[in-house]
Amino acid sequence: MTQLTTLERQGFGATQRRDAWWVGPALTFAGLSTFLIYGTWAAFQGDGFEIRKDRANFHKPDNKVVAPYLSPFYAPLIYDPQSPHAWFTSGKPTWWPAFLPLTPALLILPFPGLFRFTCYYYRKAYYRAFWADPPACAVGEPRKTYWGENRLPLILQNLHRYFMYIALIFLALLTWDALLAFWWPTLDASGNPTGGHQFGIGLGTLIMVANVICLAAFTFGCNSVRHLVGGRLKCFSCTGRTGETNLGYKMWRCSTALNEKHMEWAWVSLFVVGFTDLYIRLCAMGVWSDLRII
Ligand code: FES
Repeated sequence: MTQLTTLERQGFGATQRRDAWWVGPALTFAGLSTFLIYGTWAAFQGDGFEIRKDRANFHKPDNKVVAPYLSPFYAPLIYDPQSPHAWFTSGKPTWWPAFLPLTPALLILPFPGLFRFTCYYYRKAYYRAFWADPPACAVGEPRKTYWGENRLPLILQNLHRYFMYIALIFLALLTWDALLAFWWPTLDASGNPTGGHQFGIGLGTLIMVANVICLAAFTFGCNSVRHLVGGRLKCFSCTGRTGETNLGYKMWRCSTALNEKHMEWAWVSLFVVGFTDLYIRLCAMGVWSDLRII
């Protein structure tokens, strides 16, 4: 006979745990808050997303781009009158209400933002850190009922599998931007672009490549990617479809290996994407000088 013990609901924060269970949620709160504040500030700036000759007058009409970098916060660059990265060489749409702020970053950041917001790992992390629901395993929570993610608004978290497809498109675009970061505009003696290009590598090039690698490791380890490449199959070893040589099985194993470190890649990629924007922004402002390696 097994004796059943009835557990009493504990008050908020009550626990018998003796370890420092609050450290994880506190670090999560600090890390995500810092990124959100910096990212929101950078997105509203509308400048500093690439390096132009006149560091003090980013939007001056003839201010030429002198380095091939583009901040990932502004990629893809939907519009800009003078950037070679821009899809449309117009300014802010004339029909846009003047009282509403708009920058190219505000048009695109919701998509990677929602991909992270609905990520299974981040959900666990911010439910604990921001909502204390629960603060940690075996620690009393403030609510008395549990709805799970079965009704609005949290049922919308299930859209994660669709944001994954958009994230894959963004990853391809950022990869292209990282390749373009090897293709430098040639400059004359006064530092003005001559119209030509040549191969080159700067510290920013390496940072943009590192950013793509970290984002790829985070994205390809996504639970939805793992399901997409192999999760639908009922049998990996069935004849004709799967097995060690099966491409889908190999991709599933790669995704699984990344998935096992998904939390780590979530944080590393978050830090690196923020630092990539910061590096390009500070170089654009003239605070830092980009190191030209080749
Ligand atoms: Fe984390 Fe999909 S589960 S990105």
